[in-house]
Amino acid sequence: QRPILRLLSCPGTVAEDLRRDEQPSGSVETGFEDKIPRKRFSEMQNERREQAQRTVLIRCPEKISENKFLKYLSQHGPINNHFFYESFGLYAVVEFCRKESVGSLQNGTRTPSMAMETAIPFRSRFLSLKLKNQTSEQSCIQSSDQLPPSNRKLCELLCYAESIDDQLNTLLKEFQLTEENTKLRYLTCSLIEDIAAAYFPDCVVRPFGSSVNTFGKLGCDLDMFLDLDETRNLSTHKTSGNFLTEFQVKNVPSERIATQKILSVIGECLDHFGPGCVGVQKILNARCPLVRFSHQASGFQCDLTTNNRIALTSSELLYIYGTLDSRVRALVFGIRCWARAHSLTSSIPGAWITNFSLTMMVIFFLQRRSPPILPTLDSLKTLADAEDKCIIEGNNCTFVRDLNRIKPSGNTETLELLLKEFFEYFGNFAFNKNSINIRQGREQNKPDSSPLYIQNPFETALNISKNVSQSQLQKFVDLAQESAWVLQQKDTDRLSVSNNQPWGLAAILLPTVPNRRSFTKKKRKRSANESVRNLLESLKSNRTANFTETNEK
Ligand code: CTP
Ligand code: MG
Repeated sequence: QRPILRLLSCPGTVAEDLRRDEQPSGSVETGFEDKIPRKRFSEMQNERREQAQRTVLIRCPEKISENKFLKYLSQHGPINNHFFYESFGLYAVVEFCRKESVGSLQNGTRTPSMAMETAIPFRSRFLSLKLKNQTSEQSCIQSSDQLPPSNRKLCELLCYAESIDDQLNTLLKEFQLTEENTKLRYLTCSLIEDIAAAYFPDCVVRPFGSSVNTFGKLGCDLDMFLDLDETRNLSTHKTSGNFLTEFQVKNVPSERIATQKILSVIGECLDHFGPGCVGVQKILNARCPLVRFSHQASGFQCDLTTNNRIALTSSELLYIYGTLDSRVRALVFGIRCWARAHSLTSSIPGAWITNFSLTMMVIFFLQRRSPPILPTLDSLKTLADAEDKCIIEGNNCTFVRDLNRIKPSGNTETLELLLKEFFEYFGNFAFNKNSINIRQGREQNKPDSSPLYIQNPFETALNISKNVSQSQLQKFVDLAQESAWVLQQKDTDRLSVSNNQPWGLAAILLPTVPNRRSFTKKKRKRSANESVRNLLESLKSNRTANFTETNEK
């Protein structure tokens, strides 16, 4: 329990947040003690998709009465759920109880007539609400926040926490996707599905990656998978007689070319008549071809791919790992935020470590604990039944899908210990000779000379961190060692709250921390060889800017 006195001495907003924390309904879940049977990934995806199909997105005038708005829409049927949010204007997400209500609303909706421009007619579920008479409506709408807290607020929240465990759970609670944000992600996929359905009526657009794998931070991108299996699948209807029919189709030389052609045409559709889809880029020559665009109304940066089912499967695997034990997500969020704070990760593609790789490293680390906190992928495979059997493009993607069949871990280590040990473990990991492999849960010899080798769990010949350069890996190792050291210092513990010093997690999330200089000095002596190596490396790559930077360190 947090002391009341501390609550009172907090600045207003933080105090309110902390009080909200005290309420049982808003409290941080502590995972495995949860007795409710946990949903399968596919069940969760299907439920959310069906929900999204009954939902509309409405751009609203600034001043609007919520009651009148709901009354107006209820003419089309009962409303199950709604919320408002701001993103360069006010938007409402309205979920009807029945799908027919959406059709009824669309039937009463017109295509705008424009004075100077021409509207391309397209009946979507993204609507605008106009006031017939500019009456002075009172607006008292409560809009839901779609963004993570500011650094200042986060720092305050972390400094007022009781323990490092408490800090990690606070971070998780502040950064994880909210129910509303998740609904908006599924709705955005559903709106894109409507556009793609103009060509492929049976297609499904499914979110994957961090939007659904339980590791998504507010503000993360929206990865979408255009699933054409229904269109592609052979008809299962048995026909009598000696005949069978096949569709006349166009043939192309490879799966890759088919993917490029499909994405190219969908990219054109989004660009030409996708309401709210802007900045459409077709990146068709990438290893995994994609269409990237911004969905303006939701504020999501979207990556649409197809023929990428393995990525959906790895999202399902991560969903299982993230749901099995509450410590997993708290630790992953802590490490993701730490990496972002030190620019180890970036939103721009490059030689950096990705969030996906970091998550794999945490999972691997948790498999290595004694007793293990997470099972290996091979042991999830042995728990699988006939229904779980899955081979994709020759890769064995079989693992148990029912979470309730996996035994909880007997390990009771605290998050504080795990965070420290994570930095210790990877600060001293033999990256030069070993690879990380969550399938077997143990290090293996690296099959090639990539600085960081993390085996793709399903396409086992691939390295998911092939892009990471030696210098980025070194930066990760240095920071891990430094953070392990900072966390071990007595004076970064909660006692220093009194003199307003960031402590624990807050101390390692800040770019500059007290005592860092003494660590750096010690380290400098220890790693003279490393500096020479870095210097040689930068001379080799002939980049003067790099050279100056290394000298300045
Ligand atoms: N993926 C993969 N192999 C890679 C990169 C990505 O299989 N080398 C898959 C993973 O399933 C990953 C998904 O593609 O979750 C989306 O990739 P990305 O957006 O880079 O990662 P996220 O996990 O979504 O994390 P972020 O929050 O940074 O977007
Ligand atoms: Mg992503």
